[in-house]
Amino acid sequence: MRVLVTGGTGFTGKALVRRLLDEGHAVVALDYKEGLKTEELRDWGAEVVIGSVTDPDVVKRCVAGVAVVHHLAAAFRELNVPDTYYRDVNVGGTRNVLEAAREAGVRKFVYCSTCGVHGNIDEPPGGEDAPIQPADYYQQTKYEAEPIVNGYLEQGLKTTILRPAAIYGPGDPERFYMIFKRVARGVFPMFGSGKTFYHPLYIDNLVDAFMLAMQDGKGDGQAYLIADEEYLEIEELVRRVARALEVEVRIPHYPVWPLVAAGHVCEKLCKPFGVTPPIFPRRVDWFRQNRAFKIDKAKRDLGYAPRVGIDEGLRKTAEWYRAEGYLKLETGNLKLET
Ligand SMILES: NC(=O)c1ccc[n+]([C@@H]2O[C@H](COP(=O)([O-])OP(=O)(O)OC[C@H]3O[C@@H](n4cnc5c(N)ncnc54)[C@H](OP(=O)(O)O)[C@@H]3O)[C@@H](O)[C@H]2O)c1
Repeated sequence: MRVLVTGGTGFTGKALVRRLLDEGHAVVALDYKEGLKTEELRDWGAEVVIGSVTDPDVVKRCVAGVAVVHHLAAAFRELNVPDTYYRDVNVGGTRNVLEAAREAGVRKFVYCSTCGVHGNIDEPPGGEDAPIQPADYYQQTKYEAEPIVNGYLEQGLKTTILRPAAIYGPGDPERFYMIFKRVARGVFPMFGSGKTFYHPLYIDNLVDAFMLAMQDGKGDGQAYLIADEEYLEIEELVRRVARALEVEVRIPHYPVWPLVAAGHVCEKLCKPFGVTPPIFPRRVDWFRQNRAFKIDKAKRDLGYAPRVGIDEGLRKTAEWYRAEGYLKLETGNLKLET
């Protein structure tokens, strides 16, 4: 089949493109910027189109002849952008891709949303029926696109929504790298109790879910939380990362509220100057938001079965960070390269 992956050079998109190609599909990847990863995808045999999902003409061009769309492109980590940017990309862009998919007679549209639409889980673990309470602009705009996706079902386009938990694994340039980096230093400052739940999702498990969701007759009109089998407290996660890296880690505790206040102040001060704040509310939420999910619905309807557990996943991720030069082992201790 010919398959479009928007955001195909991103962390998740790239892993999905690799799997689709391995399984014999022809892949078109739409991405915003030309770069090393776009070249890599072309070398693998994917067709790469450079452009924005906010441009309907580019999107139409990508969708021609496509049977399945995996829509992953999103404004996600951008900090120094106007507030409207998130809505333009995550809501307007999604509408463009849906419209083009409907016009082109696409068989299946899979929308990559986020578990973050549920915000803090008050009664963990939460299922798809847990309250929708996005905590920031990113999560809000990811959620705003969900009813638009569902609306296209009535227009004959088969759609499925995936709400991934915290994705990690080889290729993750950001979130888990920050955890690994601090653990490698031997001290991980813990703000708050450390008892907040966190639900990781190993990249290969998520790619399995995308492959299942693209099948005909699976999950039409439904939303699914996708996560690993196990969730854990953040302090335990830090200890498991230390185990994966084979280092000792000290975890001193500090109150979280001064950090929350500092996050808001830093964001406000940095924004007018276009500077990336060292801390900001979304980052602080890591210490505060309960994220623990039930994945029974995806198991039942899609046949989802997470194959890689947390310890294996963390070990593979540690190996990747070392192999890629992010972390370097020196005389029994890890020395940071970056
Ligand atoms: N990472 C997580 O823990 C997590 C959890 C839940 C859900 N998600 C969702 O999973 C998806 C993939 O996330 P990720 O972690 O793989 O993020 P990522 O690495 O930042 O990938 C996002 C991709 O979207 C592309 N993109 C951004 N704006 C675009 C635009 N206007 N037009 C076309 N492409 C655009 C980016 O391209 P450039 O790099 O060229 O800008 C990037 O390749 C996103 O939909 C995200 O909301 C992620």
